[in-house]
Amino acid sequence: MRVLAGQLVQSRKKTILAQIIFVVILITGGAGFIGSNLAIYIKKKFPAYRIYAFDNLKRRGSELNISRLKEQGVEFVHGDIRNAEDFDVIPHVDVVIDASADPSVLAGIDSSVYPLINTNLFGTVNCLELADKFKAAFIFLSTSRVYPIQTLENCLFDELDTRFVWKDKQNIAGVSSKGITESFSLEGSRSFYGTSKLASELLIQEYNALKGMKTVINRCGVVSGPWQMGKVDQGVLVLWLARHHFKGSLSYIGYGGKGKQMRDVMHVDDLADLVCYQIENLDTVNGQTCNVGGGLDVSFSLVELTALCQEITGNKIAIASVEQNRVADIRIYVSDYSKINRLTGWKPQRSLRQLLTDTYDWMKLNEHNLKNILN
Ligand SMILES: NC(=O)c1ccc[n+]([C@@H]2O[C@H](COP(=O)([O-])OP(=O)(O)OC[C@H]3O[C@@H](n4cnc5c(N)ncnc54)[C@H](O)[C@@H]3O)[C@@H](O)[C@H]2O)c1
Repeated sequence: MRVLAGQLVQSRKKTILAQIIFVVILITGGAGFIGSNLAIYIKKKFPAYRIYAFDNLKRRGSELNISRLKEQGVEFVHGDIRNAEDFDVIPHVDVVIDASADPSVLAGIDSSVYPLINTNLFGTVNCLELADKFKAAFIFLSTSRVYPIQTLENCLFDELDTRFVWKDKQNIAGVSSKGITESFSLEGSRSFYGTSKLASELLIQEYNALKGMKTVINRCGVVSGPWQMGKVDQGVLVLWLARHHFKGSLSYIGYGGKGKQMRDVMHVDDLADLVCYQIENLDTVNGQTCNVGGGLDVSFSLVELTALCQEITGNKIAIASVEQNRVADIRIYVSDYSKINRLTGWKPQRSLRQLLTDTYDWMKLNEHNLKNILN
């Protein structure tokens, strides 16, 4: 990291240092949901940082973020992580945040796996090579989907009135009613998407061990919030809210069609708080892989989500019921974030209700542009 001439002050306080150190950050997938929110959050917190948001605009709706990024002083670069030469316009970088991927768990199942693997795996290699060229640190947004589907499905659960929950006592290591820890098994099928992310994680560990790169892997559960372009196969909270707002239709699919499947969810600003901490404290998190999510306190089942969406939007829509499970689906996922909490003190601060009201405010404010994308 380079220090701007003449700006060094005597104080050793990190907060002051953060303002005077000129850090260059590259966020790949920087026009996507997480990437754009991170870029703007970091820029607001550290105005002296130079931030590049790099994106090929493949995800429908990402183009809406370009003007928003520019207004906040983030530099947008149109490029594709599959083409290493597209990075040539980046003169220097201190931290690479890799948030570019096809994030759908259904990708590659009824279609070719090439687009998924070329972006999510070979693209990661290009991002790592770029980081290595500049001796930059690497922050990776991985997924809870690295954990194998059948082992998750074998966890013991109870069926409550509105949701399924994991039992506290389990026959498998790394799971309790609080969720999944990093010691949960990695043996078994996990979807092409999950595999592409786990394979990227393994490569990142090698760059850390063999090339001395500072790295951190955040295995995120569901992340949501404003600017998420929710669709049927990804971004369920925004999809649910949008269908209520625009009066579309929805279905409870699988697990008996009762809508009791359950997930934790993290407000994107909670993730941004954590990434800001990681940028400032790379040595504390270097080489670590951590589960990151809302945890049991910020979790929902689909029927519970329906009730909240009805309350927030004032609309009630018909919801169909399909008993048969969707391929690669899971009954329950909750992140046990104890490890990252022990390491950094981080824990999610925003409730599910806040997440939904923040997202709804954004949806209403941008209704004209979002109508065709979310509806
Ligand atoms: N949103 C979640 O719930 C969630 C959960 C766990 C992990 N993640 C991870 O977080 C990251 C960001 O996800 P998101 O929810 O913001 O998804 P997103 O689809 O909103 O953003 C991804 C961005 O990457 C861009 N992109 C795709 N392929 C590219 C390529 N080849 N070159 C350049 N840009 C490309 C897309 O245009 C999009 O703007 C992903 O790596 C995903 O695996 C997301």
